[in-house]
Amino acid sequence: MSVKIAPSILSADFTRLGEQVQEAIAAGAEYIHVDVMDGHFVPNMTVGPLIVRAIKPLTQKAGVSLSAHLMIEKPELMIPEFAESGADGVTVHVETCPNLHLTIQQIKSLGMQAGVTLNPSTSLDALTEILPFVDLVLVMTVNPGFGGQKYIPTMTDKIRRLRRMLDERQLSHIEIEVDGGISPENAAEVVEAGATILVAGSSVFNKHQRVADNISALRSAALRKS
Ligand code: DX5
Ligand code: ZN
Repeated sequence: MSVKIAPSILSADFTRLGEQVQEAIAAGAEYIHVDVMDGHFVPNMTVGPLIVRAIKPLTQKAGVSLSAHLMIEKPELMIPEFAESGADGVTVHVETCPNLHLTIQQIKSLGMQAGVTLNPSTSLDALTEILPFVDLVLVMTVNPGFGGQKYIPTMTDKIRRLRRMLDERQLSHIEIEVDGGISPENAAEVVEAGATILVAGSSVFNKHQRVADNISALRSAALRKS
């Protein structure tokens, strides 16, 4: 599977959000990642369907996938609104979904890609029953809530074990997305372990370099054989 880049707008300059999204799209980003936080499940509040709706014309024109990472309690109440706002994919946390199978079915029935995600301390065992029903598994490589945190090194082995689990169950078509602290320094490591989509916030949107340069640094690092 080829490696795809998913810039997280969490670190973008919100005074010129459209421009920043367009820079990422022009640089070849395959996804735009929107981090939705409610101040309950995680200790931070961010954006919601309004921003998804605002960005949608830009991603749609370019054929880029717009995904919402829901770090919110009771995501099932908000999923229809994300669908209406134009999200192409929605990812929910297993920690917030007592009826996970139902929630995944809800996402799919609204025509979106269904993703499931795990906090760093949640075991891969939580995925056993749901794997056949999802399009994507997101492995959180930091504790959710904030951009700019450090990658948790033990997550590399978790990614590797998930890859093995998918291969053993003939579910290799499922994407493995990684999110948190991803940079050119560890991109090769996570890809070698089995990641196929790299979410990157602060290593894409920052004051040091242009978005295009950051994305190409990430992509070439990811493709480098480790
Ligand atoms: C963290 C979010 C991430 C975050 C990543 O809760 O889910 O998507 O934006 O930011 P960086 O790449 O800076 O760790
Ligand atoms: Zn995220």
